[in-house]
Amino acid sequence: MSILITAGPTYERIDPVRFIGNYSSGKMGIALAEECVNREIDVILVLGPVNITSHIFNNPHIKIINVESAKQMYDACMQFYPHCEGAILCAAVADFTPISVADHKIKREGDELIIRLKPTNDIAASLGNIKKENQLLAGFALETDDEETNAKGKMQRKNFDFIVLNSLNDEGAGFRHDTNKITIIDKYKEYEYPLKTKKECAKDIIDKYCEMLKTSGKPVDK
Ligand code: C5P
Repeated sequence: MSILITAGPTYERIDPVRFIGNYSSGKMGIALAEECVNREIDVILVLGPVNITSHIFNNPHIKIINVESAKQMYDACMQFYPHCEGAILCAAVADFTPISVADHKIKREGDELIIRLKPTNDIAASLGNIKKENQLLAGFALETDDEETNAKGKMQRKNFDFIVLNSLNDEGAGFRHDTNKITIIDKYKEYEYPLKTKKECAKDIIDKYCEMLKTSGKPVDK
């Protein structure tokens, strides 16, 4: 059995020295990969630019595809997802990217600088579109307001089997922290968990993933 996991941020180049990025550390996605490798599940980790490393990076159960931009992450996911039983999309993918990349470092000139952006591919929705009946797809939603409604909307739009909600309003949850407070939402139910380390959250998420694989996405009472 193998699973595709996306993790970390994406960087969208503006010029040879600058980019648009975000605060994702990759910790949650790497914790998910570690949990899978510990269970001897093969992982394809599509990893954006991060500063952390892990003891599993040399493990034979993991293949790491290093990417930088949303486009590169999209291409890697479209290539590998068809060969996996499923995917958990944990990366914080840029929604917009510059229309053109300047060849030279942009000079400090004038009163303002306007950079025109175009939307990136929605990797989650694209995988949701090509998802086969025997594949599972799960994603994350990091919300600041109307958390549950937004997460449920995302789950439907992207054809996820379940979504992991973390709120920026919860102390110790989200970007860069070692802890997270998650709610797992599937089509039937919501499971709320207390604040835990990202490692422990990863166990809960992979437990849920493996249960759903066994029951082909049907609800499992806890
Ligand atoms: O950014 P957003 O909150 O919409 O992300 C929700 C889910 O969709 C996450 O699982 C994220 O990894 C995924 N996503 C993606 N491609 C994008 C934007 C988001 O795979 N372009």
